[in-house]
Amino acid sequence: MAAARGSAGKDAAEDAYTAEPFVPRGADLAALREAAAGCRGCPLHREATQTVFGSGAEDARVMLVGEQPGDQEDRQGRPFVGPAGKVLMRALDEAGIDPTETYITNAVKHFKFGHLPGRGKRRIHKPPSLREMTACRPWLAEEMHLIDPEVIVALGATAGKALLGPSFRVTKQRGMLLPVPEEGARECVVATIHPSAVLRADDREAAYQGLVSDLRVVAEALGRP
Ligand code: URA
Ligand code: SF4
Repeated sequence: MAAARGSAGKDAAEDAYTAEPFVPRGADLAALREAAAGCRGCPLHREATQTVFGSGAEDARVMLVGEQPGDQEDRQGRPFVGPAGKVLMRALDEAGIDPTETYITNAVKHFKFGHLPGRGKRRIHKPPSLREMTACRPWLAEEMHLIDPEVIVALGATAGKALLGPSFRVTKQRGMLLPVPEEGARECVVATIHPSAVLRADDREAAYQGLVSDLRVVAEALGRP
């Protein structure tokens, strides 16, 4: 059944999309992850298999933020374990950043997908809406607070907008150290393309080298040229 609609034709229930009531105050990372497993802050939890929370080193100096879990991540419950993850791990390594010393998460914690007509059960990734991104933001804010990294890497436009605001443009702002606009934040953001854009690019090698060179900016900021 369709949700009740107000006179403006707007879905009233959508205004209330937020993870906020599910986020425990003062929790450590393990408790946060556990609470996120039960999040119903927006409708994405309904179709997805599970919440894909961040994972990695709690003392990480680098936190990487992707868009949302993909098909593999949704099945396995961990971020960046599919094809995009492979590209990312290789690029990190090549830039001089040890992937095991990073913390990796996504701007949105549930997989959003649709089906193509005539393609059976195959799940096709759909980009999250601004509303879903905003709803999920409290989890990312808590992760940033608990991990307290020196550099945050925004992987693609969705992560860039979640971290730097809606006017963020990856083509203009990639590969440079940017301040986090949040009050009291001391970490920097470096934006780059999403690793799955490498897989879709006409010239994969050039796209991949662009990713590596942006990640070298991160490595330099950490004092590891
Ligand atoms: N793409 C993302 O943005 N995140 C993942 O975890 C996997 C693919
Ligand atoms: Fe909660 Fe985020 Fe999942 Fe929506 S996408 S249900 S806000 S964890």
